[in-house]
Formats: sequence, structure tokens, C-alpha cells
Amino acid sequence: MFKFFLARIVPLLVLAMAIILGWLASYESPLAVFFATFIPLSKGHLPPTLFGHGKMKGTPPVPDEMIPQSRPENEKFLHLPGGYSMPQIGIGMCCRPTAYDDELVYRTILWYLLLGGRHIDGAHLYMNHVAIGRGIAEAIRRGVKREEIFVTTKIFPSHFGYESTMKNVEVYAKELGLDYIDLVLMHAPTTFPFMTSPCKKEGKDATQCRRETWKALSELRASGLIRNAGVSNFAMKHLKDLEGIGAPIANNQIQFTPFEPEHVMETVAYCAEHNITMTAYSPLGGIMDQDKAMADEVLNQIAAKYDKRVSHVMLRWATQRGFAVIPGTGNPDHMRENLSIFGFELSDDDMQTINELKYRAKGFVHIDVRNSE
Ligand SMILES: NC(=O)c1ccc[n+]([C@@H]2O[C@H](COP(=O)([O-])OP(=O)(O)OC[C@H]3O[C@@H](n4cnc5c(N)ncnc54)[C@H](OP(=O)(O)O)[C@@H]3O)[C@@H](O)[C@H]2O)c1
Repeated sequence: MFKFFLARIVPLLVLAMAIILGWLASYESPLAVFFATFIPLSKGHLPPTLFGHGKMKGTPPVPDEMIPQSRPENEKFLHLPGGYSMPQIGIGMCCRPTAYDDELVYRTILWYLLLGGRHIDGAHLYMNHVAIGRGIAEAIRRGVKREEIFVTTKIFPSHFGYESTMKNVEVYAKELGLDYIDLVLMHAPTTFPFMTSPCKKEGKDATQCRRETWKALSELRASGLIRNAGVSNFAMKHLKDLEGIGAPIANNQIQFTPFEPEHVMETVAYCAEHNITMTAYSPLGGIMDQDKAMADEVLNQIAAKYDKRVSHVMLRWATQRGFAVIPGTGNPDHMRENLSIFGFELSDDDMQTINELKYRAKGFVHIDVRNSE
């Protein structure tokens, strides 16, 4: 049996792996294609990267007669440099099957903007700029004002470098169909070890690459192509690297739920001291941890007390902690729910109870970036 496995199965597995790696490597952004393929597959959908767009089910079509509805009651904002405001509730555009099919992305954006949402979180890595742009254009055609919409995108470390940033951010704006982007973030401090970037190819280290990229983002901000520049997944040492160079850091987008380990609060405190606003990604626990978060006993007890769902409580908690939140969804009912979080307020006692959940972080996935170069 073991001999059979070694002689027949192992070579087949190696061959399959080589074919997959070769296929991924044929793309400009293999990691993006990996996510766009394996996230739908993991949920039982045929990935658009292999089977084409427009075939997946998920987000329903938006009725032709639908026009913009009012914006969320008691909507709240974070204040960014330059006098700009970022709605504290947004929508995330990755990491679920509906984020990778262009038709469903178009519908998601159109639903969201017509339902009153105004903050969209994208990234080059999500491979859906063009479909997001189509959704925005259609919402504007139906009466939503461009100046009310807040669009974030992110430059992945594989594009880091001065020239590369100048060139790629212009491409992102064209893909999104926008003449300016509200916020561009550096997606992570550095490339994965097996990846490279134009900057790394020139022999520069991770700190130099971050600084060059930041210099380019600062110039793009001065030129008006982007209104603000920020970072994502940055720990204190990466934030310190940018001190005194170019634009103020407008925002740090990090994973933030009630289950983060204590050391994350070091980054949160640094950002607060330096007027860097924060955005919580995967605020409902993301693809790995959402089920565990939704089942948490304490969160369920608090949700019952307010006659709300755990998702409401998690989003409200993060916004009361001062974060913007960008829950990902392709479901219009979930969009409505997420947009209604300012209709109630958690008491100080309940906030404190949830703050203490972090000590139970065991079992929740957390990517620790403190030691990344
Ligand atoms: N900067 C980074 O490195 C980084 C990393 C990860 C994510 N992000 C950003 O953060 C966004 C959000 O993170 P995420 O998508 O990983 O995780 P998440 O927002 O915590 O969870 C998304 C999941 O929650 C479900 N959901 C949304 N609203 C719901 C509601 N009201 N009730 C029940 N279920 C609900 C969605 O399913 P349905 O579609 O069925 O509603 C989806 O499967 C991403 O889309 C992306 O924009 C950034």
C-alpha cells in the first residue's frame, strides 16, 4: 500500500501541484489569482478565474427602477487629513465568493450605494476594480453623488517602489473609472519571502521599499490623484519608518475584532497618539473565524439584551472603539443590517465586557506582523 502511494499517488500530487503553480505563475499577480480561485472553491462555487464571470449565484440583480435611498440614520465619520471624512461603516470587497465574480461585484456595489452605503474597500489584490467601477458609475447615473462616495484601494507589496507606485495607482484609478481615489493604502509592510517587487529587484530592503512607495503616494496626494494615503497591517515599527516623510498617514487598516491578542493594542495606541485613523478589517471574524465569533456566548448574551444580532454588536463595538468597519457582504439584507448599526449604542459596561474578550484569543487566527521585516 505504502509502495503504491509512493510510486503512483505522490508523483500525481507533485504533477498537480506543479501544474497549479505554473498556472498561477503565468499571472502578473499569482497571489490574487490564488485567492480568487480558492476562496470560491472552498465554499463550493466554480471560480470565475477558471469558468468565467457571470455564472455564479449570490447577489441578486438590482431592480431597474431602484433609486438611491436615504443614508444611514445617525451615520458617523472619521476625520482624515485635508478636511476629508470617511464614513465609519463601509463594505469590504474581498474574501468571499461573491467578491470574485464581476457581475456579482457590480451588483454588490450598486445595491450598497443605492441602499445608502458610501464607503467601499477595495485592493489591487482583489482583482475587481473594473467591476467596482461599473457599479459606482451606474449608481452615479441613478443619482448617487460621486463626492459622497469614499473609495479605498490598496497597493500590494509586489508593486512597491517609487516608479511602480506612480504608474500603478494611475492604472487603479482608470480601472475604477475615477478621476481621484479617496484613500490608497500600502496593503502590507512587505512582500512574502518568495515574492519580489520592482523595488526589491533594485536590491533595496523592506524599509527602503516602504519609504519609496510612501514618497510616491505623497506625491500622488499632492497632485490630487489620491486624496489620502495610508497603510494596512502595519505594526508600530513599520509606522515609525514613515515618520517625517511626505504625507501624514491617514489610516491604518488592521484585523480588529474583540478576539485580538493584547499586543495589537500597542499599534492602536500609537495610531491614536499620532492622529492615524483606524479601520477594522474582517470585523466579523472573516472567513476563518466568523462561525466561532457568532457562537461566542458573551456576544450572544449582549446581542439578546439589545434585541440585535452578534454581527451588529461586533460592528458597533468596533465603531465605538473609534474604528471604521468594512464588513464584506454580497447579500443586500446583510448590507441593510450593517448600515443600521448606528441605531443603537452599547453601554460602557458592555463595551468593557467585550474589550476583555481579547484574553480569550486562543483559537482565533491572528497574523502577527510585529516581526515582519
Ligand atoms: N487589509 C487587509 O489585509 C485585509 C484583509 C482581509 C480583509 N480586508 C478587507 O476587510 C473586508 C472584510 O473582511 P472579511 O470579508 O475578511 O471578513 P468579515 O467582514 O469579517 O466577514 C465577511 C463574512 O461575513 C458575512 N456577513 C457580512 N455581514 C453579515 C451580517 N450582517 N450577518 C451575517 N453575516 C454577514 C459575509 O457573508 P455574506 O456575503 O453572505 O453576507 C461574509 O462571508 C474585506 O472584504 C476586505 O475589504 C482587508
